[in-house]
Amino acid sequence: MGDVDTGQWVDALPVDDLWEGDMAGVTVEGTGVLLLNVDGDVIAYENRCAHQQQKLDEGDLDGRTLTCLHHMWTFDATTGEGINPAHTKLVRLPCRLNGDGVIQVEVDT
Ligand code: FES
Repeated sequence: MGDVDTGQWVDALPVDDLWEGDMAGVTVEGTGVLLLNVDGDVIAYENRCAHQQQKLDEGDLDGRTLTCLHHMWTFDATTGEGINPAHTKLVRLPCRLNGDGVIQVEVDT
């Protein structure tokens, strides 16, 4: 018994709206979420740069490199790890594709 901190899967975006090599910013249950399609894999992060919390969907995705346009920090889009500078990381969110072709993100409830 006891409280278990369980998240909730919430619809975020139809997968057809996120082409390979594309990214999109959406709001899920009040949380800004960045969705990326990297080589066919859908990945979700909080839509906040590790530097000054600016929105990352205003940046650029080139292959596996995500660039924040505010001060040009770069991240590995597949891991969220900082490339330049290193030793920083984006906050990753669990995501999945449901049977109806909709990307869902798990958010805290
Ligand atoms: S806020 Fe992203 S690099 Fe500064």
